Amino acid sequence: MRILSSIIILMLALFQPLFSFAGEKEEAMGKQLFMRYCAQCHGEKGLGDGPNVKAAEMDPQPRDLCDIEKPYMKTKDNTYLIQAIAEGGLGIDKSALMPQFKSTLSDYQIHTVAAYIRTLHKHDAPPLDFSKAKRTKESIVVNKIETGKTSKRDKLMGKKVYKKYGCSGCHAIKENGGSSGGDLSTVGLKYDAHKMWQIIKDPLSVNTDSQMPAFNIDERTGVILVKYLSSLK
Ligand code: HEC
Ligand code: HEC
Repeated sequence: MRILSSIIILMLALFQPLFSFAGEKEEAMGKQLFMRYCAQCHGEKGLGDGPNVKAAEMDPQPRDLCDIEKPYMKTKDNTYLIQAIAEGGLGIDKSALMPQFKSTLSDYQIHTVAAYIRTLHKHDAPPLDFSKAKRTKESIVVNKIETGKTSKRDKLMGKKVYKKYGCSGCHAIKENGGSSGGDLSTVGLKYDAHKMWQIIKDPLSVNTDSQMPAFNIDERTGVILVKYLSSLK
């Protein structure tokens, strides 16, 4: 037995550079990120009951990641899990209320969150493989945008962009929407256009404790969104 286990340990040591699977360290990192970014909707235990759910009257509701009522998460493979977190609802044919996190978290961090989620439900999936997960995140470039005049049409279009990206999941406007991000009813008085654009594209650059996901929105769409936000006074 001793010899056998020594051989196994030796083999694991040899294979370490090739395979690097999730352990407690990664799961703990993932839990921290989950509490910061996901619990506001999915709840601290992952039951799908975070504070935004009631406030925003979310429909659909955030997924129960613990499979309490029915086995769902266990039917999904690790690749799907990573994709859901990286691309958000828009990337997996689901609701935009589930944000994308690929601009907020590195591939490695996304893997740690996935590893943590796996601890919340029973499953037969293999451990998360970190060997190809990049540790660095692509840096975000925030160019200065020109907003110019704002027409009624701009505001309507901007409102649609706001809806499309699921901003209302965490923000309320005139008491309509989520709670974790605060009320934006008068945000036009608080920030100029560029500052808002900076918050949307790279919230961590404005606030190092930010809990808002960074949105990968192109500049043309961004101008329309910021015009709408600037009109909220
Ligand atoms: C603004 C609220 C919100 C935040 C923040 C959020 N989610 Fe979600 N999430 C949702 C909603 C809503 C759904 C359900 C989407 C649907 O069924 O169309 C969902 C679904 C999911 C799913 C299941 C996808 C499926 O197949 O149904 C996973 C996995 C998930 N979220 C993980 C996360 C992780 C991890 C984080 C944090 C990094 C996170 N979510 C942050 C709202 C949120
Ligand atoms: C998962 C929740 C979440 C989503 C989705 C979200 N935000 Fe936020 N937002 C926050 C939080 C939390 C803050 C508070 C500051 C921080 O943590 O960065 C914030 C702050 C802001 C602020 C600054 C408000 C102030 O009074 O200082 C603006 C502007 C903003 N968000 C715009 C948006 C827009 C536009 C969208 C959609 C493209 C969006 N947010 C989506 C969570 C979110």
